[in-house]
Amino acid sequence: MPPSSTSPDWDGLYREQTTPWDKGAPAPPLLEWIDSHPGECAGRILVPGCGLGHDVRALATLEGVSDVVGLDLSQTAVDQADSFPKVGRERFIAGDLFALDPDQVGTYDWVWEHTCFCAIDPSMREDYVRAVHGALKPEGHLLGVFYLDPYDDEHQPGGGPPHGCSLEELSERFEQSGRFLIEESFVPTRSYPGREGLERLVKMRRI
Ligand SMILES: C[S@@+](CC[C@H](N)C(=O)[O-])C[C@H]1O[C@@H](n2cnc3c(N)ncnc32)[C@H](O)[C@@H]1O
Repeated sequence: MPPSSTSPDWDGLYREQTTPWDKGAPAPPLLEWIDSHPGECAGRILVPGCGLGHDVRALATLEGVSDVVGLDLSQTAVDQADSFPKVGRERFIAGDLFALDPDQVGTYDWVWEHTCFCAIDPSMREDYVRAVHGALKPEGHLLGVFYLDPYDDEHQPGGGPPHGCSLEELSERFEQSGRFLIEESFVPTRSYPGREGLERLVKMRRI
């Protein structure tokens, strides 16, 4: 089975502008983390499932960041992301996180995760952990927002992503697999309206 064969038709959703996840602004927990950890996020950064690239642009303005790559399965999302004025050394690539080009493997200092892990089918989580581990340099960091509770019917009528996870599952998949060490984990105080208390900001170091 190809790694992403269980995906929704992401490009179709962008073409028909059915993108309720897109808030037109960077993720508030990312901005909170940047403000409380000045200078920490530096070097090369990968943003898988970057959508229209709001988080990519927020990261690209940081001092010490050499380049930020926004990766998304959807060519339509990537084209739209690319059409925003450039703010730093950001670029966008259409591609599959689960089939990274060899020249991307082991080259990133940081991966920023936001609404990609919760959007993929839960059966792909082992592949996700392997892919992100593979993208990072040794000692590189995965920083991300993880959803401990899936949205209810009001936010996601008819079900579907985002798929929530538990802290136990995060520890099992990322730490007990021997690939990452969780260094920081807290409920962010800044969230998009409607996501308050549903998110967990987690920083992990690649072993
Ligand atoms: C729920 S959307 C979130 C987009 C963006 N992070 C945001 O918050 O606006 C999930 C995104 O992940 C992308 N995606 C899903 N599977 C992917 C994969 N295997 N590789 C790269 N991108 C993927 C989709 O195309 C979609 O843009």
